[in-house]
Amino acid sequence: MCGIVAYVGPRDAQPILLDALGRLEYRGYDSAGLAILNGKGVEVRKKSGRIEELAKACRSKPVNGKSGISHTRWATHGAPTDTNAHPHLDASGKLALVHNGVIENYLELKGQLTKSGHKFLSDTDTEILAHLLGDTFEASKEKGEKKLIDAVRKALTQVQGTLGIAVIHSDLPGLVVGARRGSPLVIGVGNGENFLASDSQALAPYTNRVVVLQDQEVVALHADRFDVASPLGQKADIRVEEIEGGAAASDKGAHPHFMLKEIFEQAETVRSAFRGRLDPDEATAKLGGLNLSTEELREVERIFVLGCGTALHAGMVGKYLIETLAKIPVDTQHASEFRYGDSPVHEKTLFFAVSQSGETADTLGALREAKRRGFRCLGICNNVSSTIARESDGGVYMHAGPEIGVAATKSFTSQVVIFTLLSLLLGRLHSLSAAHGREILNALDRLPEHIHSLLKQSEKIRAIAHKYAQAHSMLFLGRLANFPIALEGALKMKEVTYVHAEGYPSAELKHGVIALIDKETPTVLIATHDGVYDKNLGSLQEIKARGGPVLAVAHEGDTKIAGMADAVFSVPRTHELIQPILNVIPLQLFSYHTAVALGRDVDKPRNLAKSVTVE
Ligand code: F6R
Repeated sequence: MCGIVAYVGPRDAQPILLDALGRLEYRGYDSAGLAILNGKGVEVRKKSGRIEELAKACRSKPVNGKSGISHTRWATHGAPTDTNAHPHLDASGKLALVHNGVIENYLELKGQLTKSGHKFLSDTDTEILAHLLGDTFEASKEKGEKKLIDAVRKALTQVQGTLGIAVIHSDLPGLVVGARRGSPLVIGVGNGENFLASDSQALAPYTNRVVVLQDQEVVALHADRFDVASPLGQKADIRVEEIEGGAAASDKGAHPHFMLKEIFEQAETVRSAFRGRLDPDEATAKLGGLNLSTEELREVERIFVLGCGTALHAGMVGKYLIETLAKIPVDTQHASEFRYGDSPVHEKTLFFAVSQSGETADTLGALREAKRRGFRCLGICNNVSSTIARESDGGVYMHAGPEIGVAATKSFTSQVVIFTLLSLLLGRLHSLSAAHGREILNALDRLPEHIHSLLKQSEKIRAIAHKYAQAHSMLFLGRLANFPIALEGALKMKEVTYVHAEGYPSAELKHGVIALIDKETPTVLIATHDGVYDKNLGSLQEIKARGGPVLAVAHEGDTKIAGMADAVFSVPRTHELIQPILNVIPLQLFSYHTAVALGRDVDKPRNLAKSVTVE
């Protein structure tokens, strides 16, 4: 949430900041701004709206200078206006700050600063921090760059909450100071130039060498060097990492939107999730990153899965898989609920924190809480340099490549593949037969081919989406492992189309939801052949009897459903436990095409941001 980029080097800062900021727009896109040291002082441009608005302002009145900071915002305090956009200045106008996070005690600090004569222009918590930093800077007895570093360190001791910040001061040209507490920040290491960004992808065209700043660290960034200090001011250990992917990975290619590109990537991304992890000889999976011995895995008596939104839905499919194959009871909980609740947890419980970004504040908070209570907590993440990946005791990477579309798609199917591997591994340590294990392995192996064939239906799904795009509300129903798929279908629909949608277990229909059925309210019913197929047919009849249109996810060639439903999303048939991975794909396409039909901004839906780094 919110993206930060800073630059120090021999080149003009403005085009670099604008370009890199563009790759962070998924983190927030209600306003943007930059501040550059122009040789005389700090020059600021900021605009409400997308980064393109800022770029226009900069094109008509460029800012020249070789070091600067920039920000794309997802509003927390104060509406998305020009004034509330970052950067914010201190009282002297010489210090500029960009901030990602939330200052929890900002009202108290504002009161103190107001008493000592400070006046504020914006409604943001960030401006309070800028003024506090300015005062601390003036009061510091240090000289040169140390003065700004000292100010940052001291100001941070007075601030509660999360932050990733970048600061410049007109007395110190060629210096950017950054600090991190909670919100991610990476240093991009260039040749004779250095960068700071919320996410390494932002820097892909400039450098693939990054240093991930650890919590509480402060960095002083110059063109030719950077110094990272621990909270106590000692020089910190630095590990330069090479990142994969490069600029092309965050390019839309021939697709009109990232969401569609990422839906279409799934044949490959599911393969990456299981590549090198299948063990056909033993009919099991190999997951070395769990950092658990066979004995330790055997001792696991319960599993607890934490996540938010789509990641939690994947965990809910995971529950079904693990309980079915390994017979280990699984709890799933919204990370935000677990974090502040006090539900008792069985002592032999293994935790999983599931997160594409690896930076979701609620999931990170829940992981820390589970670890604080003494439990081993593993991560299932896509972003390998993320905080959750680093703080967990081990885990499994998704290897899905960058997911830029705000609506999660490919990360979901990768997460479910990983839960399948996990349930296979655990199952084979208990009573799952090799024959059954092999059926699962074979189904996984054929998944990419099935996804390829399913994606060919995109145009057919587009026609269905156009027909139902004007609906005000939709229902998504499924049973057992397809219940979380119904939840996920409804979430995708809400996010990218703003059409109200609810996901339910099909049988819940008659316990109240059926009151919503009328001829204007389409129901998407997941009814592939499985143990509850006939029950789903019953639900279909009940909806039709009340005049509701039914769009069914059904197996190719299912003439029974084709004869009853108003439209069919046909999916190839696979193993019943792998089927949910295929069933979700038409729902992703249905939401995507409905959003396009309604003229929505598919990759940047209103009010959302990709990586939710605030509570
Ligand atoms: C839905 C969506 C969100 C995320 C949720 C968790 O399309 O994108 O619901 O799934 O914010 O994000 P991660 O997986 O990054 O922790």
